[in-house]
Amino acid sequence: MFRNFGRSTVRVLIASNHALFRHGLMSLFKKKLGVKVEIVGEVTNFESASEVLETQEVDLVIVDYDDDQLNREDFLTRFVGGGGQKRIILVSLSNPESAMLYDRRELPLAQFEAWFEGWQETGERTSPPSKGVARRKNQTRSNRMKHFVVAGFLVIVLTVLLILGAGQVRLLPVAASAQAQPIDQLFRLMFFAIAFLFSLIVVFMLYSIVVFRRREGDESDARHIEGNTTLEVTWTTIPLIIVLGLSFLGARSLAEVERPDPKALEVDVIGMQWTWRFEYPRYGIVSNELVLPVNKQAILYLSSQDVIHSFWVPEFRVKQDLLPGGEEFVRTLRITPTEIGSYKVRCAELCGIRHAYMESPVIVVSQADFDVWVAQQTGEPTDPVERGRKWSNQYGCLSCHSLDGSKLVGPTWLGLFGSQVRLADGSTVIADEAYIIESIRNPGAKIVEGYPNIMPANVGQDLSDERIQDIIAFMKTLR
Ligand code: CUA
Repeated sequence: MFRNFGRSTVRVLIASNHALFRHGLMSLFKKKLGVKVEIVGEVTNFESASEVLETQEVDLVIVDYDDDQLNREDFLTRFVGGGGQKRIILVSLSNPESAMLYDRRELPLAQFEAWFEGWQETGERTSPPSKGVARRKNQTRSNRMKHFVVAGFLVIVLTVLLILGAGQVRLLPVAASAQAQPIDQLFRLMFFAIAFLFSLIVVFMLYSIVVFRRREGDESDARHIEGNTTLEVTWTTIPLIIVLGLSFLGARSLAEVERPDPKALEVDVIGMQWTWRFEYPRYGIVSNELVLPVNKQAILYLSSQDVIHSFWVPEFRVKQDLLPGGEEFVRTLRITPTEIGSYKVRCAELCGIRHAYMESPVIVVSQADFDVWVAQQTGEPTDPVERGRKWSNQYGCLSCHSLDGSKLVGPTWLGLFGSQVRLADGSTVIADEAYIIESIRNPGAKIVEGYPNIMPANVGQDLSDERIQDIIAFMKTLR
């Protein structure tokens, strides 16, 4: 379609060994036809003609039919008899009609003119065409417009269908935080843009495949397109503008998501294989569930005790990695919950064997309920068993040790205390107080048969002797 776009010269390759033939032909082109001709090459054999045709775009090949040094058969087989890839004219001087061409007295150019009109019909022209040509040219132009109108209409239809269709599918969970608003807005905008671009590409591709498919018996070659500056500038500029626009909107949304509130509730979030711990420094609370008051910004200080984890509550939209390495690697995340309800924080970074189970409840409550919860948490139970249950929860013991006999990463606590334990080295040991204390303080000392040696050593370092005693008291009740 774009062949010769912006070009008005006929590119000609002449094959002859006679200089007179070549030059005579040239002046004829100019004087009698008013055609601007660019001689792409003058060759004296078939091989060099092929070379030129491979590297250059050629509209017309003129062969000196009487030249015995040229292998006419090659030209005929390749260009006329075979695939008919190039337009070719054979000019004979021994033939009385064609001889006149060389003679210049008359113009037996019907053959050439016929070809030239055909070329004008589809190529871009600037030389004055005859009336018949102009009409045909307008017809092809309006045909082309028709294709664009139909394809454009299909693009709009598909875009609308995609957007309506996606409206039926719940792509995102409920938006439960103030930070979700700008993110969802951006998501919707991106989705519209993507639906349109998808339609644009797919419709034009399928339309071309169906409407411009090769018909039965059509052996002609497609037009050879070589460069199109307008098109290339257009398809570079438009995506550039789109990308710059999106990055502007993205930066604006990010600023909104990270907008600080000086009165934010501070919570330290500690990730470890494979549990979460939430500490409220203002109240001295340590919890294994994240409780947040509604409509109040919480600032989370995230850190990890071992490997990289990721804090992700889909309903809040925002997400942040937790990095090991201490103070300087602490990351922050701001969340302003807007909907009372129960959610779940999931670890979104592959972090080991129980990564898939690394989740904790996130509970958004009214300010009044939050105050009640704080009061409950700050009072310490007097019963050591209850304290032990509390420590086991807070320190994440129960994410690896079950209380009901089921096998997790570590041995179950049900019936553990006082039982006989088989170790990996084949020996047995009684699970008494000393064994439990050692297993908490120095988890690698005795490995239970059938379990990997993966319990983190830092769990025990965080636990005081009194708290371990509470945990043992709790264990003793699990029979
Ligand atoms: Cu922690 Cu995955």
